[in-house]
Amino acid sequence: MNDKQAVALEAASYVKHDMIVGLGTGSTANYFIEALAARQQQSQLRVATVASSNISMIKAQSVGLTVLSLSQLSQIDLYVDGADEITPDNALLKGRGYDLVMEKLLAKAAKQFIVVADRSKLVERIGSQYPIPIEVMPFAWQAAKRSIEAVGGVGELRQNAAKDGLCVTSHGSLVLDMRFDANLDADQLNALLNNIPGVVEHGIFAKLATTILIADQGKIESRI
Ligand code: A5P
Repeated sequence: MNDKQAVALEAASYVKHDMIVGLGTGSTANYFIEALAARQQQSQLRVATVASSNISMIKAQSVGLTVLSLSQLSQIDLYVDGADEITPDNALLKGRGYDLVMEKLLAKAAKQFIVVADRSKLVERIGSQYPIPIEVMPFAWQAAKRSIEAVGGVGELRQNAAKDGLCVTSHGSLVLDMRFDANLDADQLNALLNNIPGVVEHGIFAKLATTILIADQGKIESRI
């Protein structure tokens, strides 16, 4: 079992009967979806889920989990998702899978938000490994980019994997991948980006995680 599987299995042990569980996006979240389905098959545990992306919804349905729409719910019990970067003060960078809107809505709606990661995600400052993903309205991307550049951001629209077109999110937005001055911390960037018109959402998740599980060579450390 690799570290991502181990940490996903640990997170599945937090799930209790009748919970509504938010499902993240990415390889670690996929392992969690599998572990949750296995728990449901092997025990009396019954849960309902809500997915953060179309790909997670399809994955959850394929392993027999019930998937609800967020519009039917006012709150969820638990959200389990991976992260792209985790800082020492527990700020997260998310959004390499680019469905930021649902990911942040679920993180906010959850009573408990458990982040699952291996130690490759630990960084000293947000944005040190990856640019900050910023989801923008398609008709406003240039205006939003200019506003972001005015506060020191440098970057471009994200291209699709084949590099023959742009990434389009499940909700029809485009994604700017932007780098910023290293002196700006997660809280400052969060505040700056929250104030830019045309920005739908961005990948800085500050003060949202309630538990962070980090797997390192089979050992799992729990933070917060
Ligand atoms: C998805 O948009 C991201 O926020 C993911 O949580 C992230 O990319 C984690 O992916 P892995 O679990 O595959 O590392």
